[in-house]
Amino acid sequence: MRILITGGAGFIGSHLCDKYVKEGHTVVCLDNFMSGDLMNVRHLLDYRTFKLIKGDIRDFELLEKIMRDVDVVFHLAAQVHVDRSYVEPRLTYDVNVIGTQNILEVARIYDVKRVIHASTSEVYGSAQYSPIDEDHPLNAPHPYGASKIAADRTCYAYIQTYGMDISILRFFNIFGPRQRDQGYGGVISIFTRRVLNNIPPIIYGDGLQTRDYTYIEDAVKAYDLIFNHESPIKEPINFGSGKEITILDLANKIIEMCGKKEDMKSIHVEARIGEVNRLIANSAKARDRLGWDPNYDLDKGLHKFVQWYRNYGMVDRIKI
Ligand SMILES: NC(=O)c1ccc[n+]([C@@H]2O[C@H](COP(=O)([O-])OP(=O)(O)OC[C@H]3O[C@@H](n4cnc5c(N)ncnc54)[C@H](O)[C@@H]3O)[C@@H](O)[C@H]2O)c1
Repeated sequence: MRILITGGAGFIGSHLCDKYVKEGHTVVCLDNFMSGDLMNVRHLLDYRTFKLIKGDIRDFELLEKIMRDVDVVFHLAAQVHVDRSYVEPRLTYDVNVIGTQNILEVARIYDVKRVIHASTSEVYGSAQYSPIDEDHPLNAPHPYGASKIAADRTCYAYIQTYGMDISILRFFNIFGPRQRDQGYGGVISIFTRRVLNNIPPIIYGDGLQTRDYTYIEDAVKAYDLIFNHESPIKEPINFGSGKEITILDLANKIIEMCGKKEDMKSIHVEARIGEVNRLIANSAKARDRLGWDPNYDLDKGLHKFVQWYRNYGMVDRIKI
C-alpha cells in the first residue's frame, strides 16, 4: 500500500510512520513542522520506502502532486492546541478546516480508497452526561474544538455526497513518547519534564477538571484496526479508557512516579477560559465494531512513559 500520513512528524503521526514503514508499506510523511519535529522521524530516513516532504496541507497544488498514487490517507496534520487556538483562531481554522477540505477534495479527485481523519473528544465540550458517546451534542467552547467540528462535518458531507470511505476518530487525550513537553504540549509530558527537573507542575484552577487518557500504543492499535477493517466505517468513533482522573490527582501521580513525593506540591494559577470540566469516553462502539480494547491502564502507561522520558525525553529537539 502507498500511505500518506499528514502531520507525520508529530507525536501520533510519527508512531504511525514507524508502524507502516516497518510493515513494508510505502509511507509519505507530509509535515510543515509547525509543531512536529525531525527527530521523531529521522531514524526512518534511511528506508527507501519512506519519503519525508516538508509542505503544507493548505497547499492544494502540492497535495495534487503527492496524492496521485496514494491508497490510504491518515490525516493528522492540524493546529492541535486549545490555548494556541485562542490567540491564533484564524490559523486554527485555516489549517484544521480548509486544510482538511483540501485533503478530502484531492482524495476525491484521485479516488483514494480510504481517509482516516483525526478528530478529537474536544468537539463535545464539557460532558452533559457521562461517559460521552458519539451522540453527545457537539458543544466545543473554543476555536480548536469548533474547527474540528467543522472538519468532521466536512468529512460527513464528503461521505454523504460522494460515498467516500472516511473514518472519523475521536480520541480522548493520548500520551506517550515524543509528545511535546513544552509550550503547546501535552499535560503529561509537560508535568513529567517539570517534575524531573525539580520544578512543580502548574495547574489551572482547582485541578478538579477530569480527563480520560489513552497510551500511544493503544491509539496506534485503534488506527490499525480502522486501516485493516474490511468494510468502511464512515462515521465518528470514540476511543478512550472510560476512566477519568482529575488533573490534580494526575500531577500527584507523576510526582510520585518520578520519586519526588516528599518535597513537591503543584502550583495553582487562575483557571483558563472555556476549559472543559469533564471528559470521559464511552468507547462501546470502538469495542463492538472494531474489537478495540486498551492494553494499557493509566498507571502502566505512565510507568512506561516516565521510564522513556528519563532515558530519551530530555534532549534538544531538531527543527527544520
Ligand atoms: N494528542 C492527543 O491527545 C490528541 C487527542 C485527540 C485528537 N488528536 C488529533 O490527532 C492529530 C495529531 O495530534 P498530535 O497530538 O500528534 O499533535 P502534533 O502537534 O504532534 O502533530 C500535528 C502535526 O501536524 C503538523 N502540521 C500542523 N499544521 C500543518 C500543516 N498546515 N501542514 C502540514 N502539517 C502540519 C505539525 O507540524 C505536527 O507535526 C491532530 O489532528 C489532533 O487534533 C490528538
